[in-house]
Amino acid sequence: MTSPLSSPPLFPTPPSRVYFHPAPEQFPAAPQNPELAAFHRRLPGYAPTPLVPAPAAAAALGVRSVWVKDESSRLGLPAYKILGASWATYRALQAHFRQQLKSISHWHSIAELAGQMRADLPLTLVAATDGNHGRAVARMARWLGLGAHILVPADMVGARRQAVVSEGARLTVIDGTYDEAVEAAARLAGPRDLVISDTAWEGYEQIPAWVIEGYATIFQEIDDQLGALGEGQPDLVSVQMGVGALASAVVQRYRAEGQHTQVVGAEPLRAACVLQSVEAGHLVDVPGPHDSVMAGLNCGRPSPVAWPFVSRGIGAFVAVADARAEEAMRLLALDGVVSGESGAAGLAGLLDLLTGPHAPEARAHLGLTASSTVLLLSTEGATDPEAYARIVGRT
Ligand SMILES: Cc1ncc(COP(=O)(O)O)c(C=O)c1O
Repeated sequence: MTSPLSSPPLFPTPPSRVYFHPAPEQFPAAPQNPELAAFHRRLPGYAPTPLVPAPAAAAALGVRSVWVKDESSRLGLPAYKILGASWATYRALQAHFRQQLKSISHWHSIAELAGQMRADLPLTLVAATDGNHGRAVARMARWLGLGAHILVPADMVGARRQAVVSEGARLTVIDGTYDEAVEAAARLAGPRDLVISDTAWEGYEQIPAWVIEGYATIFQEIDDQLGALGEGQPDLVSVQMGVGALASAVVQRYRAEGQHTQVVGAEPLRAACVLQSVEAGHLVDVPGPHDSVMAGLNCGRPSPVAWPFVSRGIGAFVAVADARAEEAMRLLALDGVVSGESGAAGLAGLLDLLTGPHAPEARAHLGLTASSTVLLLSTEGATDPEAYARIVGRT
């Protein structure tokens, strides 16, 4: 008889999938829009989110230090997405006004901006989401006195649906995946229905590019925070990927010419659309169902505007099982960070790379040593509180 210790686990974690880019590229530094920071600062409740040290994660990864940008409370919402959704909405509204030969005049507060919208009502913001982006678009609509129509995939959990409805949005549940919700949202575009999507398709690229641009505020804050601590740029950033919009912002910031930082991109095994596209050498659709607990990452097709950056700038791609995300949530909790399933996925991918069977190759490929520093983006808090309590053992 085998002892309980030597017997295999009842539910072994499926092996991860890894792709090492033979020669990740760098890009000319993208000029930052000078209006962006001033825009975000005028939104209600703006404050930089914390950058916290994570010694438990550093010990687990075998590196000198880990910094976690904690996005569990961003402009009153439990995820970073409002930075991109708000900026893209603002730029789209400016373009919408211009089409009518009008312009948005200077404003100091969101109430003043909302006042300028009144002349042009009714106007509805439309978005597909697997949670955080749609809620952020709905919040922006609420601030501006606009309507919001948010389309969600059939399997979205009740807590996340409720969060969207709590913003006053109309919610439509699509009998299908996130990608089918994106297609349905695109069909709703019209003179009074402005689609604010964080992913792109042919002929619809500008707004998703503004979403990516909006994320730059995160990196500006990190620069200020690391600078104040006397720390240099991180040796590695690990970022979770759905359609790759956030990862594209990471690449534009940290793979700019002259930087030494490496980037890792992490996805769920069952929705590894970026990894599979990189392996194929072109964009591919990964068929659903996409049923990972990393709900924000359940996407079957990368965003074409993110693709040039993620496919060329990321050094290692890793697709992990849900159990890894849960392990990462527990580890971040030890460091005092409340991180949801998608929020912890960057750490999940890195844990797998640096402690799993690929570790020697991964460390060599990424140039990581015991004195390296790592940056993680915990992109959401406990957006499914029941699941969080079950996984981490507390709220
Ligand atoms: C919490 C969280 N993190 C990361 C992502 C990934 O973002 P992207 O789709 O830009 O790759 C999402 C997307 O919804 C998310 O909700």
